[in-house]
This record gives sequence, structure tokens and C-alpha cells, in this order.
Amino acid sequence: MPYRLLLVLLIGMYSCKSKTGTQPVPDADSSINIPQATERYRPQFHFSPAAHWMNDPNGMFYLDGVYNLYFQYYPGDTKWGPMHWGHATSTDLVNWKEEAVALFPDSLGYIFSGSAVVDKDNTSGFGKDGKTPVVAIFTHHDPKGADAKRNDYQSQSLAYSLDNGMTWTKYEHNPVLKNPGIVDFRDPKVNWNKKISKWVMTLATKDRITFYASTNLKDWSKLSEFGATLGAHGGVWECPDLFPLRYKGNDVWVLLVSINPGGPNGGSATQYFVGDFNGKEFIPSDTSTRFIDYGTDNYAGVTMSNTGDRTIFVGWMSNWFYAEKVPTEKWRSAMTLPRELFLQEAGGKPYLASRPVPELDKKGKPETDFGINAASSTNKEPRPLVLDRKDSTYRLQFGIRAEDFQVTLSNAKAEKFVIGYDKGSNRFYMDRTAAGNSAFDPRFAARHWAPRIATTDVIPLQLVVDVASVELFADGGLTVMTDIFFPSVPFDKTTITPASPNAVSDAKYTSLKK
Ligand code: FRU
Repeated sequence: MPYRLLLVLLIGMYSCKSKTGTQPVPDADSSINIPQATERYRPQFHFSPAAHWMNDPNGMFYLDGVYNLYFQYYPGDTKWGPMHWGHATSTDLVNWKEEAVALFPDSLGYIFSGSAVVDKDNTSGFGKDGKTPVVAIFTHHDPKGADAKRNDYQSQSLAYSLDNGMTWTKYEHNPVLKNPGIVDFRDPKVNWNKKISKWVMTLATKDRITFYASTNLKDWSKLSEFGATLGAHGGVWECPDLFPLRYKGNDVWVLLVSINPGGPNGGSATQYFVGDFNGKEFIPSDTSTRFIDYGTDNYAGVTMSNTGDRTIFVGWMSNWFYAEKVPTEKWRSAMTLPRELFLQEAGGKPYLASRPVPELDKKGKPETDFGINAASSTNKEPRPLVLDRKDSTYRLQFGIRAEDFQVTLSNAKAEKFVIGYDKGSNRFYMDRTAAGNSAFDPRFAARHWAPRIATTDVIPLQLVVDVASVELFADGGLTVMTDIFFPSVPFDKTTITPASPNAVSDAKYTSLKK
């Protein structure tokens, strides 16, 4: 075993054991009390690892009442390094428990992103004694090949679990899909395709997607390629996903493709295509470039397998521009809220809509009597409406007339994060130019823009705030923005500034504190 690899394994094993022994860093400046959150910027209900580096969500599946989330993890540092798969579980998609590291680097290399399927019919033959195998399909990244500037250092491999994803065995004949000479050849997302009764792998291959099919997850044959001349190409294509959603009684296919850089507001982002997958090729019904989320902090997101009629998406809540530099001391990054995906009609076409999973409704008690509604209905002037709660972990839902407005999260240090709508350009925005610590990267303090797709007079809005992040779901999730921020003390004041009197309706506030 090469020395470097041995070191990686030892670091990994050590960190895995020491994971729960981390000490909270008291937030002395904090003017509000967040129970159990003594670490500055620690999200309360978004998954974040207790310590060390995390990026993409991987291998998500549901089985026997448990949602499993794996993730790109480096247990040796708070910066990217030799990749493992960390693991977390949840029974409600809101509260997460970190588990032992699931996959360690080996002689074929680091364990890059990939997916997992519940192989109910034991097509892989990994099942034993009637136990259903869960099969992970991931990229092996050979760092020596990369250093030597070879073009074939990424290939696809398997591991299987016979205990619902708690422990894994790597397949002895890895890799199962060798590299044909493409430098970026990674992030396999596998789904069962009913039409052809085969597994279909959606793979990012540099500047396009390549589809493969298999009956046993071990032998793969190429079906087709998509996208070399379509969509955004400001960076390499990564972490794709392909799945059907119901639309007007039919299956319509959605293809997610993350790109880095080249996102609409800089750096990493995830675009999507809508169309048909005929069992061989993906045929888009619309060639415009659209993004699942226009904020800068939702990347590499894919859907969970084995969730029946539900399509549940989770993304990595950061951006490669600055992910390694954000000012969290012990860990880096969190995941987005799990979101359910739908196709929603706008202008006669299907658009992808994301909404917080309904499980979030069970957390906290919604309140309607907290100042904003009363003040809003008696307004003669368009005056600011202040949420009479000091809170930095909450959900706020309301309707607002489609005119210029702002929602400001602020603190006593005059730092602020602004969410708004600009009627002139028909765009939403998020502005973190004065939102606290941004010195770690010159691209962080910026205003981000997102197109409004819906055309109604009133915009239904939903904001989910969790200490250091905000997720905006406008128009039932047709326009979504996710941004992170690092104020010197928590934002504990929320102000809605409408353009006209009585512009705000049906406001609902839910504290999501633990
Ligand atoms: C996306 C990505 C993937 C890769 C992984 C490595 O963020 O670059 O393409 O598999 O991260 O950690």
C-alpha cells in the first residue's frame, strides 16, 4: 500500500472515532440564545458534519423508514482532500444523525460522488440470505493518475451493503466502467428505467452527459450522449441526475446538470433540462437554460432513490468559489433543506419547482398573530413591517404584491442581508454586500439575481432561515435562491419593506429553534 494512502486511511479512521468529541466554540457576541448552538454559524436543522470538510450529497436512498444521506467528506481537514463518503441518517428529513464514515479511499483512489440504489430484485447478485442489497455506484478518482496528467484516472465502481447502508463492501472487480480517455468522467447517478427494464446511469463526461444501461449494475453499455451544444457551458459538467415527474397526467423527464464555474451568479450552480427520455436518448422539449436555484449556494444536488412517488432533492449549500475559505472553524458546509420537486406550468410550459419537504411543517408551530399581519392591514403608508421576534432560525411565509419590496435580515451591528424583488426587471435578488464577514473571498459580497417566472399579481413567498443561510421559495418554488452569510452576530431582526400600503397578506411565522 502506498505510504500516502496508508496515511489517508489512518487519518480517516482516527477522525471517524473522534467525531463526536468536538468541543463547541462559544459565541460570545451572540445577542440571542440559540439552544444547543454554541458554535457560531452552526445550522440548526440543515445537516452539517460535526467536524471537517464536506461537499456533495451522495448515494441518498430511503429504506425501512430511514433516509440515508452520504456526502463527500474529508475527515482529515476542513479543506477538500482525499475523499471518503461520510454518512448521516434521518427518519423525518429534518433531524439528522451523523453516522460512521461509510467509504474510505483504497488502492483505486479517492471515493468521489455517486449514487445508491435499493436492488430489490437482487439484479446485482450481491444479496445474501434473503437480504436486499443496497448498491452504491461511485467514481474512483486515482490521484496518481491525475498528478501524472493521464486522461483516464476516473472510473466507476461499486460497493454494496446488506445492512441498510450502515456498512459497505467494495466489489472485488472494480472498476465496472473504465475510462475511455475522458478527463472528467464522473458522478454516476443510477435509476431503474421501467421502459427498458434496465438500470440507466447518467454520467457527467466533461462537457456533456453520457447515458449507459445495465441489467446487473456490473456490465454497462453506452446508450447516447446529450448536451455538448446545449445549456450553460461556463465550466465542467458534474453531478447529473435524470428522473421523470408527473405533468398533466404524463411522465416528463428532468435532467439536472451541475456546472462549475459558470453559474448565473458566478461559480457553482445546477441547471436543468425538461424533455423526454425514450430509453436511449434524452430529447429536450425546451432548449432555454434554466437553473433549479439562482442563489450561489446550492450545488451538486441530486435526488434520493426509493422514495416512491416523491422526488426529494438535496444540494450542497456552498460554492467552489469560496467553500474552503468560509469562516466556520471546525466544519465546512451544510446541505440545503431537503426539497420536493414538481413540474409546474408557467406560460404554457413545464418548469421545475422546488418546495421544502412537508416534513418541515411538523417542526415548530406556525403563528399568524405576530405583528406583521395586524400592522399590514391597517397601513395607510407603505411602512416597514417588523417581525416582533428575535430569531435567526425560522420560516416566514406570506403573500406580497408584485411591486418592489425588500425583506431585510439585520443585527445590532448594522449588518444586513436583503432579499428583494425588482419590478422593472422582473427579478428577485439577494444582497449580501453588507452582510458581515466577506473578506475571505472578493466574490462573496455581491447581489445575486433570479428571474421571476410566474405572472400573478401577488407573489407567494417563503423564506427559510437557519443561522447562516436563507432559502427563498417564490411562487410555489418556481424561482428559488439559496445564499449563505456570516454576520458578526446573528441576524435577529426581520423587516419587510413593501412598496404600497397593505401589500403583505397572510403572513405566517414559525420558529424552528430546537
Ligand atoms: C462536485 C465534484 C464532483 C466530484 C466531487 C469531488 O462538487 O467536483 O464532480 O465527484 O466534487 O469531491
